[in-house]
Order: sequence, then structure tokens, then C-alpha cells
Amino acid sequence: MLEVQNLMVFFENALALNDFGMEVREGQVVGVIGSNSAGKTTLMNTLSGLIIDMRIKEKRRGGERITVYGKVLFKGEDITKTRPSERVKKGIVLCRERHPIFPESDVSQNLQMAGYLRKRSEIRETVKEVFDLFPALIPLKSRKAGFMSGGEQQMLAVGMALVARPQLLLLDEPLLGLSPMMQHLLVDAIKGLKAKSGITVVISEQFARPVLPMIDFGYIIENGMLTLTGTGSELMDNPEVKAAYFGI
Ligand SMILES: Nc1ncnc2c1ncn2[C@@H]1O[C@H](COP(=O)(O)OP(=O)(O)OP(=O)(O)O)[C@@H](O)[C@H]1O
Ligand SMILES: [Mg+2]
Repeated sequence: MLEVQNLMVFFENALALNDFGMEVREGQVVGVIGSNSAGKTTLMNTLSGLIIDMRIKEKRRGGERITVYGKVLFKGEDITKTRPSERVKKGIVLCRERHPIFPESDVSQNLQMAGYLRKRSEIRETVKEVFDLFPALIPLKSRKAGFMSGGEQQMLAVGMALVARPQLLLLDEPLLGLSPMMQHLLVDAIKGLKAKSGITVVISEQFARPVLPMIDFGYIIENGMLTLTGTGSELMDNPEVKAAYFGI
């Protein structure tokens, strides 16, 4: 469904992604694991197309030069130059890191806004699905999102991405800052998504432990370079992964 070939991303002369490649099959949950500044967000921004807008904005401001080489294919089509808004229409939806939500609006309003590209009836239906997936959000429907806990905001952020009806959902560090219990809840929700709706998911994380058991395939990146690939269980059994991520 998704193929990334020979991806290189430079910010000025700094190389954020170095000859990165990956493949995601329909219905899979694929993990991209790496520590801070490994290149996870740069990859997610490249998959969603945000990097194109960033590049244009920087150019206009006379700011830093962002250079992207390589190819992104979605269902066989070269989308490397496709703008993010067009990618959303094709079904590629990114849930950005650190749960960006509209803090002044309540939960229901946030979910409605996330569906602005959809018909009203569709929004109603998917909003209901989001509440089925995250029942903890139900009593918070009219709570201002900015007043909710980090975990609640993260559930909302994932919910908002779902209201856009993705075929390919990109989750950039959804577990960041969450308690182990909240992480568990979110991991279960993602598993539920896969089982129920067959949505294809790419999830980036620095926490390997909660993520590896749920992924079909994973890519480990360090300093923008691919260091290891394998199925979730292969990676879990790998001594290098154990040493780097499990502290054993
Ligand atoms: N807009 C930018 N301008 C300059 N350098 C950047 C920019 N965005 C990212 N970088 C650099 O690119 C590298 C990869 O950053 P990136 O944000 O993709 O990492 P990450 O894996 O998402 O890290 P984190 O876990 O902290 O979110 C880092 O060295 C970072 O400093
Ligand atoms: Mg990041």
C-alpha cells in the first residue's frame, strides 16, 4: 500500500533521514522505533506531505533549506510531490506528535472540526465509532480539550484523525507522556482498530516495549539510518533491541 524508496531529508546540511526505505502492506500495523531525534517525525511529515508545506514556508521566509530526495508511493502512485491536503483526500491522515488539539473547543467540537472534509452523516457515524473506541471520552464530551489530561488529549487526537476516515493512519509518538495504563489503553484501541476496521497503521515510537508486541513489522532507526527490520516478535527477541530498548 505504501512504499518509501531511498528517502533522504536534509535540514540545511544536516541529514535527518539517510537512505531510508520501508514498505507497508494493506491492513498491517507497522512500527518505526527510534530514540529522540532519530528522524521519526521527519519521516511522518514526509509520509503525510507536511514536509512539502514546511519547505515552501521556509523558502518564502528565506529560512533554512529543506531538501528531500527519494520517492513515496501510495497504492502504486508516486505521491512524492502531492500536497498534504491532497494526501488526506487519498486517505493518508497524520496524528501529529504531542497531541495537537483545539484547546479552547470541547471534545465534540474538536471531533466535528476534524471531519470538515466529510459529509455530516459520515461525521456523526465516525464520531460514534470514536466514542466506542474510547469510552473514556464519553463523559468528557463537553469538556474544553485544553483542560483534559495528556492521555485524554491523546485519545482525542487519535479520534480526530479517525474522523477524517483514513485508509492509512500515521501516528507520531502517540504514547509520549502517557502513564503505562494509558499506554495500554491506547495500544488496545489501535489493536481494536486493526481488527474492526482493517485500517493500515504506521506508528512511530521511542518506547519499544508496548509497541513491538502489537506490530506486524518494524523498522528501527538511529540518527536517520535504518539499523534493523523484522516482525514484532523478531525484534523483541533481538539482543540489540533488548539492550537498547529493554535495558537487558
Ligand atoms: N525543522 C527542522 N530544522 C532543522 N533540523 C530539524 C528540523 N526538524 C528536525 N530536525 C533535525 O532532524 C533530526 C530528526 O528530527 P526528528 O524530529 O525527525 O526526530 P524524532 O525521531 O521525531 O525525535 P523525537 O523523539 O524527539 O520527537 C534531528 O537531528 C533534528 O534536530
Ligand atoms: Mg518526533
